[in-house]
Amino acid sequence: MKVFTGRLINCVVIQAALPLECEYLVGLLVNVQQETRGGWVFWRGEYQGMDLIVSKTRMGLSNAAAATAIAIERYQPRAIINQGTSGGHNPDLNVFDIVLGLETTNFGMVKTPFSERGAGSNSLHWHEAFDMLPDDESDPEPIRKRYYPADAALLTAARAVKQTYAQGQVVEGVIGSADCWNNELDRIAFLREMYGTEVEEMEAASVAQIAQQYGVPMMAIRVVSNNITNGGAYNPDTGKACQDFVLQVVAQYLRT
Ligand code: 5AD
Repeated sequence: MKVFTGRLINCVVIQAALPLECEYLVGLLVNVQQETRGGWVFWRGEYQGMDLIVSKTRMGLSNAAAATAIAIERYQPRAIINQGTSGGHNPDLNVFDIVLGLETTNFGMVKTPFSERGAGSNSLHWHEAFDMLPDDESDPEPIRKRYYPADAALLTAARAVKQTYAQGQVVEGVIGSADCWNNELDRIAFLREMYGTEVEEMEAASVAQIAQQYGVPMMAIRVVSNNITNGGAYNPDTGKACQDFVLQVVAQYLRT
């Protein structure tokens, strides 16, 4: 097993699910070391004086949660940024636009209404969100939407460098996560109405949940790589654009 050597001080973890969302960052690092825990790969290195750890979480909520817990336990990061591609829920967003996650939410955690055998299934009737971190742990059916807010200092840093992004607009809003890629336009409209989502992806809310449990500052930043609500075709080049912007955010965060 490969492990990092040397002390880590105040590192920032930048996560991505896919190679196309992290390879550019890894390529920029100097003095790179690689560490693998379970199936999760981490690269540690420096970029312009910053001590960074790039974490490839792989896709989905449980991968993201595991990679986050490992990173926090092993590296005691100063902050975590979950970044990468996403699908638009808001028809006003174009491919290459970036969403600063004011909040993240897990939109897959629901309690469905009862229906009879043979009655079919209709996700447009799923109005009850299920809270996975209820204050009252004796309640087995806590019905409540849960939103994880972005860390204030990370958000301030991201806002401060908005103007540096030239490939699209930078907006703020809710990032929705689930182990699901939605292509039903009615479902997407329903989710946007119910949760106020700008985009969907598969990791951010899970990372936010774990980071909150540990008290580690966290923020999600997602680029729109596809938007079925306005015909925006998938573009993998958005992955690099997002990494570039996130680097600006981290540099600003560490400057202040
Ligand atoms: N729906 C869900 N996930 C998406 N991703 C990009 N676009 C979408 C979309 N429309 C992200 C997820 C996951 C991978 C499939 O890319 O976060 O990691």
